[in-house]
Amino acid sequence: MNAETSLRPADFVYPMFVVNGSNIRRPVASMPGVDQVSVDEAVEQARAARDAGVRAVLLFGLPDSKDPAGTQSCDPGEAVQRACGELKKSVGDVTVITDVCLCEYTDHGHCGVLADDGEVDNDATLPLLAATAVSHVDAGADIVAPSAMMDGQVAAIRAALDSSGHSNTPVMGYSAKYASVFYGPFREAADSAPQFGDRRSYQMAPTQRREAMREIEADIAEGADWIMVKPALAYLDVIHEASERFDHPLAAYNVSGEYSMIKAAAANGWLDEKRAALEALTAIKRAGADLIITYFAIDAARWVSQTG
Ligand code: PBG
Repeated sequence: MNAETSLRPADFVYPMFVVNGSNIRRPVASMPGVDQVSVDEAVEQARAARDAGVRAVLLFGLPDSKDPAGTQSCDPGEAVQRACGELKKSVGDVTVITDVCLCEYTDHGHCGVLADDGEVDNDATLPLLAATAVSHVDAGADIVAPSAMMDGQVAAIRAALDSSGHSNTPVMGYSAKYASVFYGPFREAADSAPQFGDRRSYQMAPTQRREAMREIEADIAEGADWIMVKPALAYLDVIHEASERFDHPLAAYNVSGEYSMIKAAAANGWLDEKRAALEALTAIKRAGADLIITYFAIDAARWVSQTG
């Protein structure tokens, strides 16, 4: 009766890592409870999420082969595109969001293509991200979420969607995405660690708060329907400020390292997993997030509806 903040299953988005093949559930060692899954298993996971009250999943795709330009990222036969089709066919009431980035598809592991000097080439990457987004929506994705942090990526994707008959498909910008050590476990899950250097030329420095507001403003000006702050727990101030300043729906990404820390402490008996996870998720919601992308989504949905 007195609670100012409450969590609902529909607040959560469940991320999934989809691989080619069938019948595959390959555990990610650094993220207990998270697997790389083939499309058939992704359908099962999405059903479990839906049955727990979760209304949306976020898909990452892992190709069998990589190259410098990440060309597999827009192949209609790849895992993520096939997953979009199967999910819409089999679990149609779950919203399918796809992560749009090249880092899982490039052999160097960067989020864009490289210029001759070895730096990421922002503008040359934009058409590739746009083609990837269109291929996801052609395959059935409901929302695309560009995470490469290339300047102009939302505008490029919006224009490409509009001119390919997808003007009703929303774009969720990973607007304020920091260069964070907390992505470490994800890079094992998505096999996307940069083979040299780091992502600091395109992701934001943790010192920046006002710059995050400018990044969000830019995404909104480019046509983003959703905005996002990522990671969540180390950036609650940024989430809060964004929620006060902008009227757009705001997502927060409770990233892999934030998940793994709780899992590891719980496995050692140092923290109560359920209470730690729910306290962290409550903090993210209290800070102002409308939607929380979290690997705890299914468990947390069961916990908050007291069925798990
Ligand atoms: C792709 C991408 C990353 C994450 C989401 N999309 C990794 C990165 O930027 O290195 C991280 C998610 C997580 O840690 O859970 N660019």
